[in-house]
Amino acid sequence: MRLIIRETKNQTSQWVAEYIVHRINEFRPTKERPFVLGLPTGSSPEKIYANLVDMYRSGKVSFKNVVTFNMDEYVGIPTSHPQSYHSFMFKHLFQHVDIPPNQIHLPSLENYHEYDSMIAKYGGIELFLCGVGSDGHIAFNEPGSSLASKTRVKTLTSDTIMANARFFDGDVNAVPKSAVTVGVKTVLDAREVILIADGRGKAEAVRQAVEGKISHSWTVTALQMHPKFIMAVDEAATEELRVKTVKYFKDIEGTAVAPGKLGSKL
Ligand code: GLP
Repeated sequence: MRLIIRETKNQTSQWVAEYIVHRINEFRPTKERPFVLGLPTGSSPEKIYANLVDMYRSGKVSFKNVVTFNMDEYVGIPTSHPQSYHSFMFKHLFQHVDIPPNQIHLPSLENYHEYDSMIAKYGGIELFLCGVGSDGHIAFNEPGSSLASKTRVKTLTSDTIMANARFFDGDVNAVPKSAVTVGVKTVLDAREVILIADGRGKAEAVRQAVEGKISHSWTVTALQMHPKFIMAVDEAATEELRVKTVKYFKDIEGTAVAPGKLGSKL
């Protein structure tokens, strides 16, 4: 794995957005061979999406031949609800770029049985961008979720409901109690994974992801098995890591070339 550490969330978000643009352009996607991108919602990716929109507007990238698969969606609120992940994605990314609507996918009660085979029909996910919950969940794979799981319906934990209440005017009762989510295996099946985390609230999850043992108690740790895995975090999110670990990864990155010149070297 690579661990990219930048001082602020803004800097981390910019690095990740530039990396995504670089990967899309390097891939040279066409209608017949689109770039398949897995996407998260939440506060972590907001600035990345803002940067992608800016880069699209300045002609650095096109999403015309990009196909997207979102990682999760609430159950029990309509897609038109302002806090649905569907609304989030249109507000922050899709409505501002040139992606054709029929190339956008979000999991739902109607399609979750076939979500993994829909991904497979496109040849699999080229790059999966993920956030992480403070309890180490990826998508809505809460602690105890199978590390071999595929897309399905999951009940949310009280911790996640409380954490997400901030998007529902602080009202825990307004937060849906379940969600459709890709599985841990769905994420592991992607050819490359980038996980983003910022702030002290994610520091323990980051510690588990980097230094912890692989365990379904912290589903993020499954990514240690991924052959092409990048974590991009800000300084605050590294606070629970050993100083030695941080120095080690900073040393490796100090010798790495800039993201725009990275090619497929990982
Ligand atoms: C939510 C979502 C995840 C997201 C995580 C972190 O529960 N299901 O997909 O990655 O929590 O969210 P945030 O980026 O807002 O901290």
